[in-house]
Amino acid sequence: RYADIGLVGLGVMGRNLALNFRDKGFSVAGFDIDSSKVKALNTDAMERRFEGYGSVEDFVSALKTPCAILMLVPAGKPVDMAIKDFLPHLNPGDLIIDAGNSHFSDTDRRIEYVSEKGIHFMGVGVSGGEKGARYGPSIMPGGNKEAYEQVRPLFEAAAAQVNGDPCVAYLGSGSAGHYVKMVHNGIEYGIMQLIGETYDIMKRGLQFDAERLHQVYEEWNQGELESYLVQITSGIFLQRDKKTSLPLIDRILDEAKQKGTGKWASQDSMDLGIPLSTMDTAVVMRHLSALRHDRQQGASIFGECGSFEDKSEVQVEDLRNALYACTIMTYAQGMALLSAASKHYQYDVPLSDVARIWRGGCIIRAAVLEKIRSAFEKRPDLSNLMFDESLGKKINECQGSLRKLVRSATAVGIPIPAFAASLSYFDSFRSSWLPANLIQAQRDYFGSHTYERIDEPGAFHTEWGQPER
Ligand code: 6PG
Repeated sequence: RYADIGLVGLGVMGRNLALNFRDKGFSVAGFDIDSSKVKALNTDAMERRFEGYGSVEDFVSALKTPCAILMLVPAGKPVDMAIKDFLPHLNPGDLIIDAGNSHFSDTDRRIEYVSEKGIHFMGVGVSGGEKGARYGPSIMPGGNKEAYEQVRPLFEAAAAQVNGDPCVAYLGSGSAGHYVKMVHNGIEYGIMQLIGETYDIMKRGLQFDAERLHQVYEEWNQGELESYLVQITSGIFLQRDKKTSLPLIDRILDEAKQKGTGKWASQDSMDLGIPLSTMDTAVVMRHLSALRHDRQQGASIFGECGSFEDKSEVQVEDLRNALYACTIMTYAQGMALLSAASKHYQYDVPLSDVARIWRGGCIIRAAVLEKIRSAFEKRPDLSNLMFDESLGKKINECQGSLRKLVRSATAVGIPIPAFAASLSYFDSFRSSWLPANLIQAQRDYFGSHTYERIDEPGAFHTEWGQPER
């Protein structure tokens, strides 16, 4: 028994994570039902023991006890199947880790299932794609705290490091890790949609070419907006198509696909009553993008959007400001959902640690996360990130640009749903009064649902339409 950890699922992610553990000085055993993947791992074996197995028995016998098995298999049925295969070979105190994008409710179910046999189960979010897995992802573990201690040295060594600080922290009990990863992906969707809308305004409104677009995003990435997503966006506009030598971006079909984790965040936010205006819109827009034939029909009936007649109407600086403000609001929505979920599911998620471990390795890593970390460190009970003094000040400074962008884009018909939703999110949060009194009156009118009064406690009902005597 030589292996510090066993990796199940030797696809690109699993293999890269295995190599990452090995590079950090750990011995690794790998398992895959596909023998070609096992062979590939054995070829990579170097001075540290690092072997692949095709038999469950041989694999488990290679693991030091208590065993730690980390699975990187597709979410859903494959996870349950893998658990079923390994469970008979494990002993009380052993640990199974699901590092895939599983739904948090599946994780809770699995924790309960394996705990009957004294086995620990952890749901761990891993972000950063293939390169992240190989050279340092952001790792979001949740579940049994003592079990976590068993793998903590491995995780801390393999995670991305920001100024020597590993991008991993224990995030709470039960399915907390997978919940945090789900929110990460919701934020990822929101920011991607916002960046997409800046691209649309610059492409169709200002008629920038790919070279100019590359320059804008590159410039933005040098300042407050510095982030992985802005950085890769800048790189995308440089890429040429091998076939035509034209910018590749213009050859890519405009239909966004999704595996669903962003949608899950929106779905659960609806159950918990937490508004995710920007993130919801991002999910909707992926769906809308997929309705390409309807969009084409609409364009032929109603005509395409226009471009700005006066090209100085919207400055690149306005777009930058608007993107920055709305990015903060997207994080604010995600954090608000995490805070509510933490109470509802009794996770006890440390929000400042979440922001800290998102600073490196993951897809939503961004310079602003240091400000977010510090906001929650100062005020762990902050109800909305927009109320942090320094971030709130930023949003306030940028709101003029955001309004200008929304006005100009809507005037020529360029759809900017995430910017518009974010602006309304902001405006609603600065409305001490909203027209919900009318909704209450309507509900009481048609359904006797009762309403509350501003001047007296209790539930009231009115026979609407009858003159008061
Ligand atoms: C990450 C990504 C990763 C993956 C998503 C993409 O953090 O590394 O979020 O998990 O790229 O599954 O999600 P969609 O297919 O839903 O866009």
